[in-house]
Amino acid sequence: MNISIFGLGYVGCVSLACLARDGHEVIGVDVDRTKLELIAAGKTPVVEEGMVDLVAAAAASGRMRVSDDVRDAVANTEISLVCVGTPSAANGNQDLSAIHRLSADLGAALKDKASPHVIVFRSTLAPGTVEDVIRPIVEDASGKRDGEHFHLCFQPEFLREGSSIRDYDKPPFTIVGANADYPVEVLRALFGHLPCAFHTTSVRAAEMVKLCCNNFHALKITFANETARLCGSLGVDPFEVMDLLCKDTQLNISKAYLKPGYAFGGSCLPKDLRATLYMAKQHDVELPMLGGVLPSNREHVARAVDKVLATGKRRIGLIGLSFKTGTDDLRESPTVTLAEQLIGKGMRLSVYDPEVHLSRLLGANKRFIEQHLPHIGELICADVRDVVAKSDVLIVSLADPKVFDVLRDSVRPEQLVLDLVRIPSASSWPCNVAGLCW
Ligand SMILES: NC(=O)c1ccc[n+]([C@@H]2O[C@H](COP(=O)([O-])OP(=O)(O)OC[C@H]3O[C@@H](n4cnc5c(N)ncnc54)[C@H](O)[C@@H]3O)[C@@H](O)[C@H]2O)c1
Repeated sequence: MNISIFGLGYVGCVSLACLARDGHEVIGVDVDRTKLELIAAGKTPVVEEGMVDLVAAAAASGRMRVSDDVRDAVANTEISLVCVGTPSAANGNQDLSAIHRLSADLGAALKDKASPHVIVFRSTLAPGTVEDVIRPIVEDASGKRDGEHFHLCFQPEFLREGSSIRDYDKPPFTIVGANADYPVEVLRALFGHLPCAFHTTSVRAAEMVKLCCNNFHALKITFANETARLCGSLGVDPFEVMDLLCKDTQLNISKAYLKPGYAFGGSCLPKDLRATLYMAKQHDVELPMLGGVLPSNREHVARAVDKVLATGKRRIGLIGLSFKTGTDDLRESPTVTLAEQLIGKGMRLSVYDPEVHLSRLLGANKRFIEQHLPHIGELICADVRDVVAKSDVLIVSLADPKVFDVLRDSVRPEQLVLDLVRIPSASSWPCNVAGLCW
């Protein structure tokens, strides 16, 4: 394939050399003359394991050349990979000046091109950048339409500095965000041979996944480091603790707890977090990330309350009351907190939870609900249909397919369902179903 690559930093230069190695004809474009001269002489502008030999071999192969002429690069290739930098601006926003300038140049170059051209953004971009910022610039400059004469798409790059060639050859996955089949097929032809899954999605989701991956990595490192600080103050070996933690691939290193939904609660997570933070305080150890977890959880409940109030309806049905499906444990249930706050705002509540039988509640569980919802007995209905009949808005926090079936058959078109569990069949329900926290 004939490929042009714009921006010859870590991402662009590694891609250039690897694609030439794999037999493609590549043109590298940069605004930095020194980088162009180095690459033309077979030298790498970035320090990366394996790059000295790879760039030398690519230059010797005759399949790689460099240029500062965007028009030449677009005219002589069928696909362009954009790898220019997107550093932080002073206010934290992405500095898109290189992207803006290049998009205008690419648009101008497309004006004269008759054959279809695919432009793949590999730079990390905030969701909406390709469709809302870049597309108008390219369309204006080219006088042509995205999806007709050219195709804009986004394919996040997952290589890491220090192991970039190995990561290029074995990424965790390939994700292509595109609005048409043609750019997906071009990218499948280019990257489909890599030993990883090939996923397609919307442009915005692809942009968001890249940011989320980096945020998740930062979160993991910070979790390990906060754990280490606390372990250090307690005389516990942090490496042993983290090593053991990682051996649990059922709950820890797994998909568990990574599905968006409602706030966490129950008799363990909030109390153990509080105990951890108290211990850190006693040992003068700062844990800002763990310290931010409970406030973030409260924010999730506050958002739910605001969203219910914004409906302007007063008759609210809660489907599910315990802290998660399949238990009658009400201790620190965020749904109980939601109920408490809605009652405080003057809402009329009715509640259904198949596991919660007031006569059977005991001990701390009984004390908790008596303290937080003393009139719970008047709110609870034994049949979910009764809650539906008495409510204008239904809040579903119970993930039970049997309950979903009853709800689908009994809700009325004018009712609103606020979903906390991502009801699988929601699109076939006769009423409007919306996420409560998203
Ligand atoms: N470095 C990484 O490990 C890594 C990994 C994944 C994704 N990314 C993302 O990829 C993008 C590039 O990162 P990088 O580290 O390779 O950046 P970099 O700063 O090393 O290189 C960017 C290059 O773009 C060039 N450039 C600027 N304006 C240009 C223009 N108008 N035309 C052509 N070239 C131009 C610069 O001269 C520079 O050589 C960023 O968005 C980054 O967030 C980086």
